[in-house]
This record gives sequence, C-alpha cells and structure tokens, in this order.
Amino acid sequence: MRRACVIGYPVRQSRSPLIHGFWLKEHGIEGSYERAEVAPAAFEGFVAGLSANGFVGANVTVPHKEAAFRLASVEDPVAGALEAVNTLWLDKGRLRGANTDVAGFLANLDQERPGWDLDLDHVVLLGAGGAGRAVLHGVLARGARRVSVLNRTLPRAADLASRAGGRARAVAWDEAKAALSDAALLVNATSLGMAGQPGLALGLDRLPRSAVVTDIVYVPLETELLRTARERGNPTVDGLGMLLHQAVPGFERWFGVRPAVSPALRRLVVDDLLRVRPEGGR
Ligand code: ATR
Repeated sequence: MRRACVIGYPVRQSRSPLIHGFWLKEHGIEGSYERAEVAPAAFEGFVAGLSANGFVGANVTVPHKEAAFRLASVEDPVAGALEAVNTLWLDKGRLRGANTDVAGFLANLDQERPGWDLDLDHVVLLGAGGAGRAVLHGVLARGARRVSVLNRTLPRAADLASRAGGRARAVAWDEAKAALSDAALLVNATSLGMAGQPGLALGLDRLPRSAVVTDIVYVPLETELLRTARERGNPTVDGLGMLLHQAVPGFERWFGVRPAVSPALRRLVVDDLLRVRPEGGR
C-alpha cells in the first residue's frame, strides 16, 4: 500500500487528507494519505525517514517549505525561483521536490474565469509573503505587464518587486485606491480576512467592474473582499480552488493517476469547511 502525508506544524487544519482521500476512493487505489505534525527541529529527520517508514512522498506546508527546498533535489524552475517546495517524492531512493502552488493558483483562475489572463495590463497584489511570491511568479508567467505590490511592511513589497525584472513596483497602502483604478486583476495574498484575523479594509470604489478579484484565503470561503467585489458586479474567484488544484501533481506522482478537480470534490471540502469552522486556513 502506498502511503503519503502532509507535513506541517501545526497540521490539524489541513484539508489535504480529505482531498487525497477522495481521489484514492474515486480511483479505487489502495493507498493512504495522513497528517504528520512535525516540529521544525524534527523536519530533516522525518524527511530522511520517509522511505523507511513506507512513504512514497509528501506535501509540505507551513513552516517547512523552505527547509524542504534545501533538502530535496529540485529541477522544477518554479520551486527554484520561490526557494520553496510543497511536494516531495522519492525517485529511486532520491528525494525530489517541486512547487505546485503557482500552478494551483493559475489553474483555479483558468477553471473559474477562462480568459482572465488575456489582457493582464495591471495586476494589484496585496501581500509580499510566501503566498505573494507565488502569485507574483504566476501572473508574470502569464504575461502581466505591470504589478503593483502592496504590503503592510513596505520594504518587503519593495524586495519582492525588485525580483520581477522591472515589471513590478511596491506601492504604499494609502495609495491603494489609485492603484486599483486601472487594475485587471486584484489578488489578496495576505492573511487579512481569514477567520480569526483582522479584516481587509480596502475601498473598491475605483476598481473597474471588469477586474477579476481573487483571494488566497478560503476560510471563510467568501471573504469580505470577495463579497464586496461580487456585490458591486466584479467577477470573483475564491481561494479553495487553489488548494484543490495544487494537490493534483502530488497525487499523480505518488499514485500514478492524474485526478480531476470536480464539483463533487469541491462540495466535500466546502461541507467540511462549513462543519468544522476552524480558526484559520489558506
Ligand atoms: P505566507 O507565506 O502565507 O504568505 P507570511 O509570509 O507570513 O505568510 O505573509 C503573510 C502576509 O500577510 C504578509 O504580506 C503580511 O504582511 P507583512 O509582510 O507586513 O507582515 C500580511 N499580514 C499578516 N497580518 C497582517 C496584518 N495584521 N495587517 C496587514 N498585513 C498583514
């Protein structure tokens, strides 16, 4: 029986076992996907023991993605650019790693708003942490001509923007309204608006109604940002699809079948989110 797991600290909030469990059942595969709560000091040892413990691979979540990047052999250019790995697998005994967060972010938009990237003149990105980095990488790969990066800590936005080859700039929060006035895409990649976190106070009155608005936060499923955007007529995409899509490549590597992100899978995870109401999750 093939075993995989998600390694995090904490990890009880992870929906990955639900997702992979659904696919294992759907495809009639005898396998398992578990939660592994591993403290940072124990991460390297746990990863070294994956094979001995019968695992074929793992997902890696906060706070281990950078450590996973250092420990794995990485050929994936996205993981190289982000210096973060979220998917590990064993290849003839060798630990290999990739980053599927960017692909997950893009696949979610592709599925929910086909054509969203046809004219990406200006993207407004809120957040300059790990998630912000992944989003910036993704929108640049899809041809965004200008990206404005807004972040509470402005130097962090400046640092991120400086890696974009002249296509991104850091913008102060109090200039958000002006930045939004010609945006084609608005992305929240901060933890603002997540259950248990402060809200995201951002006036959308100058945002063009055609701009797509998406949030990395998926607890709650419809954040205040998405609700405000929807109520004024903007197309919106919630963050759950990114979680579902980023899981696809790992499952395919470990279990040999490329699974689909179907309405039934989404329903299962939405029902779980509504039932448990945890304190957070992205
Ligand atoms: P992740 O890797 O998930 O992106 P992170 O690196 O901790 O997590 O980044 C969290 C993001 O949310 C950052 O953009 C952070 O802003 P700072 O860089 O200024 O810390 C943002 N964020 C978190 N809490 C915030 C708050 N209370 N107000 C404004 N921004 C906040």
